[in-house]
Amino acid sequence: MAMDLSSWAAKIHSKKEKIPTAPTLDHLQKYEHELFGRKEGFITEAMKALRDLPPDQIKTNAQALNMLKKECQEAIEKRRSELSAPSTEKLAKEDAIDVTLELPQKERGHLHLIPEFIRQVEEVFGRMGFDTSYGPEIETEENNFNLLNIPATHPARDAQDTFWIKTKDPNDRRLLRTQTSPVQIRYMQTHKPPFRMICPGAVYRKDEDATHSPMFHQFEGLMIGTDVSLANMKAVMITAMRELTSPDIVFRFRTGYFPFVEPGLEVDMRWQGEDKTREGNWLEVVGCGMVHPQVLINCGINPPMSGRPRLAREAWQGFAFGFGVERMLMIKHQIPSIRSFYQGDVRFLQQF
Ligand code: DAH
Repeated sequence: MAMDLSSWAAKIHSKKEKIPTAPTLDHLQKYEHELFGRKEGFITEAMKALRDLPPDQIKTNAQALNMLKKECQEAIEKRRSELSAPSTEKLAKEDAIDVTLELPQKERGHLHLIPEFIRQVEEVFGRMGFDTSYGPEIETEENNFNLLNIPATHPARDAQDTFWIKTKDPNDRRLLRTQTSPVQIRYMQTHKPPFRMICPGAVYRKDEDATHSPMFHQFEGLMIGTDVSLANMKAVMITAMRELTSPDIVFRFRTGYFPFVEPGLEVDMRWQGEDKTREGNWLEVVGCGMVHPQVLINCGINPPMSGRPRLAREAWQGFAFGFGVERMLMIKHQIPSIRSFYQGDVRFLQQF
C-alpha cells in the first residue's frame, strides 16, 4: 500500500536533520539520493502522494512540501561546502613550504667589468665634486687635435694613429676620437669656470698587442679654478688610484709630454703581466698635467697673464688627466692581456 503524504514528510524531516552532521561527502551524496532520487526518493514520492489528497488540500500541502524541499537542498549545499573546504590541519600538512630547502641557483647576469668600473669612477669622482659629461665618438679634427694644441704637423699625432672617416667634403675632417680629451674642449666651450668634470668613454687607435687594442676606454678629467695647482692634481690622482685599484697600489709619477698640458706628467703602476715570477713591470696608466694656456685661450677661457683684455678678467688655471680604463683593471685584477675584455668568454667574465 502506498504511503500517504504525512508519512513521507516525516521521513523527509528525519533525513534532513542528519544532513548537517553528515560525516563525509559520500554520506551526504547518499542522503541526497535518498531524498531526491527519481525513483523512490522521499521527496519524489511525496510529490506523487500529493495527488491522492482531496483537491482543496493540494495547494497548501504542495507549498509546505516545496518549502521542505528547498530547506533540504540548502542544507545539502551548506554541508557540501563545509566538507569540501580543507581543514587547517590538512592545509598545514599539505601546503607547508619548507624554507630550508635548497633550490638550484638561478644564473643571473651582471654588468661587464668595464661599464661597472666606469660607474665606480663616476661615483668616486662624484664624491670629490666632479660632474660627468659625455661626448660623441665621431669627432672633428678640430676638437680631437687642433684645439688641444696638436696642429697638423705636430709629431704627437703620430703617437695616436687615427681612424679617419670618409667624408664628401675634404674640409669636413672627422675621425673616431683617439682620446676623450675633446670632451674637455666641448665642456670648456659651454661652461663657465670654476668647474670639475670627468668624461668616460670609448676611444679608437690603430694599435694592437697585449696592452693595446684598437678600441679601448678612457676617462678624462678637468678641474679649473683660480688657484688649482699641481699639488691638488696629485692629491686627486692619488685618491682616485687608491680607491679604484687598491689602497696599497704601487705607482710613480714622472714627467711626460702632452701638447695640451704644461708641465705634463705620467703615472705608471706596477703590473704583474704574464710573467708572474718577476716583481712586475711598470705600466703607464695616466697622463696628466696643468692645462696649457693655449688650450684655455682656444676655448675662450682667460689664463693667468694671457694679456688678452677682451677675455674675462679672472685668470683661470687647472689640471687635466686621462686614465686608461682597461689598464687600471689589468692592474687591479692581474689580467695579462687586454684582449680578454672583448672576447666574451664567460669563464673570464664570471670572475668579476
Ligand atoms: N689624452 C691622452 C692620451 O690619450 C691622455 C691625457 C694626458 C689626457 C694628459 C689628459 C692629460 O687630459 O692632461 O694619451
